[in-house]
Amino acid sequence: MSEPEDTKLEARLAEQESFEPPESFVEEANVSDPDIYDEFEENWPECWERAAELLTWEEEYDEVLVDDDEPFYEWFTNGKLNASANCLDRHLDDRGDELAIQWEGELGETREYTYEELHREVNEFAAALSELGVEEDDIVTMYMPMIPELPIAMLACARIGAPHSVVFAGFSADALATRMKSADSEYLVTCDGYYRRGDGLDHMTKANEGLADVTHDTTTVVVDRLGDELEHELTENQHDYDDLVADQAGASLEPVVRDAEDMLFLMYTSGTTGQPKGVKHTTGGYLSYVSWTSHAVLDVKPADTYWCSADIGWITGHSYIVYGPLALGTTTVMYEGTPDYPDKDRMWEIVENYGVDQLYTAPTAIRAFMKWGSRYPEQHDLSSLRLLGTVGEPINPKAWKWYYKHIGGEECPIVDTWWQTETGGMMITTLPAIGEMKPGSAGPPLPGISANVVDEAGEEVAPGEAGYVTVDRPWPGMLRTLYRNDERFVSEYWEAYSDSDADEWVYFPEDGAKIDEDGYITILGRVDDVINVSGHRLGTMEIESAVVGVEGVAEAAAVGGDHEMKGEAVYVYVILEDGYEEGAEMEAAIVEGVEESIGPIARPEEVIFTPELPKTRSGKIMRRLLEDIANGDELGNTSTLRNPDVVKDIAKKL
Ligand code: PRX
Repeated sequence: MSEPEDTKLEARLAEQESFEPPESFVEEANVSDPDIYDEFEENWPECWERAAELLTWEEEYDEVLVDDDEPFYEWFTNGKLNASANCLDRHLDDRGDELAIQWEGELGETREYTYEELHREVNEFAAALSELGVEEDDIVTMYMPMIPELPIAMLACARIGAPHSVVFAGFSADALATRMKSADSEYLVTCDGYYRRGDGLDHMTKANEGLADVTHDTTTVVVDRLGDELEHELTENQHDYDDLVADQAGASLEPVVRDAEDMLFLMYTSGTTGQPKGVKHTTGGYLSYVSWTSHAVLDVKPADTYWCSADIGWITGHSYIVYGPLALGTTTVMYEGTPDYPDKDRMWEIVENYGVDQLYTAPTAIRAFMKWGSRYPEQHDLSSLRLLGTVGEPINPKAWKWYYKHIGGEECPIVDTWWQTETGGMMITTLPAIGEMKPGSAGPPLPGISANVVDEAGEEVAPGEAGYVTVDRPWPGMLRTLYRNDERFVSEYWEAYSDSDADEWVYFPEDGAKIDEDGYITILGRVDDVINVSGHRLGTMEIESAVVGVEGVAEAAAVGGDHEMKGEAVYVYVILEDGYEEGAEMEAAIVEGVEESIGPIARPEEVIFTPELPKTRSGKIMRRLLEDIANGDELGNTSTLRNPDVVKDIAKKL
């Protein structure tokens, strides 16, 4: 294309505020009838049978929804099923020879699993886990990067009815130990190491450090990812994955029949307090919901090659790399490494090589692609792409339009999907073949989802005004509780907006938002003490307790500040004890303390030493002011502070 035309196109795109779904897409889409919104509305909650119908049930459920004990809802009651049978066994007849997982390692090696092969390996590993003593309802922790053994282990657990708890491999030994202890998990599946930017990275030492902190007995399975590059002595309670699977060659295990409400997995996530929350997801509701949203929003069809570039260590990977796509019998792509290794076109090479139909990624990645420039995608044939998706944080219109033009070639709808670990699956997004897309706005709530934007009092705000997202009806994929903490489940998510006397239960996701005349919701970000770094959710309290754990630190406050690439970055304000000196050494100790206690993703962008923190008269730290300082914003009213001068002093330092 010639320059002037290109410039004209850019100008048109920059101004355009809404986009119609491409016709070629609409014609073939799984869901394209706009009546679906009314159908779900008129037929609620029975409409959710549409989701349940996508699964194979051992025994039919009695009722779609039981709400006798709100907010402890039950979905598809007395239905019986097994998640691994739904993701594997039922596809064998028709799709046994088709690819289930297309894996690519960072160094370029590939591993392919047909449904038949995946079924075999899951059976063998499930048999191995049983042999090691894992029983139904035992929680098995996984601490693994993006290698095929991770989804294999998850499905093996699902097969024997043992809930898994996956800990992101980038988290620290401390984080692993905390989660294993909190869940009383006696089993761990991990690996020796993995590749990052071409280097073999030791993972086992971190796993061992974590295990050393777990006070109960544990049994560990270790996957050998790095071969001879890294040798680790295994202890008596540690077993080599390959040996275990070889011992079970050809084993076949009947999938355990699980109740719809039996736990499928736990996923720990950050919240307002220092203790991560164990979000509990169940078998029937969760699996129906992620299958339905994969079908309706991602438009996944069995013959597709679908790629979600998230990490399975987060909910996005659970729902939309493993369970949703495999339940629908499609080919799901898994990539081990970073998007710029060996070069910045790695993602586009993968799309071209495998003929990827749908790409689901995060705004932080899109911002990086944009910065690297369009010459990288231009080197590749991306014409196989049919749909694009984003998740994890707000996407600004500029990045949206770049994605639309340079990756989608203006022929792919974009779904900007808002949801959370707790919601299990997508909640607010356009349906790709219905209605227009508005860059920067996620869209309306999905059919059957009743989300609103309200003020402090719970009244719906006028279009354009900022408020809070609430959801006033349950949905099948919702968390059922926080593991062993029903009380915190109620207080964290339901107390703010529910009226329990009137039996009105409203879920509060702790996000700010705006709504427009068409009911499109634009998410503004978290309103609790959670920082969203590159789409990764971190609790300020967790960071603060890591900083205060460093010798010489008296007090600390962590806040999120705007960051061009990461969306938000961590800023920590630190008061030192007498006798300790500000400076590079102390700063390094603090950064190291945070990395050790949480992981490199929580690494502070800046450490700001200060003799005081801005506090209200009642002694509460004014985080909002600290955020303003980090952002270089004008400081609002400081007159309610006990120590108004302190903010000016801090601001001067930055
Ligand atoms: O603030 C919202 C943001 O990510 C939070 C949930 O984080 P997590 O539980 O880690 O799950 C991330 C993947 C689902 C939300 O409370 N968020 C997620 N998706 C979007 C988003 N913010 C804006 N737009 C989105 N599409």
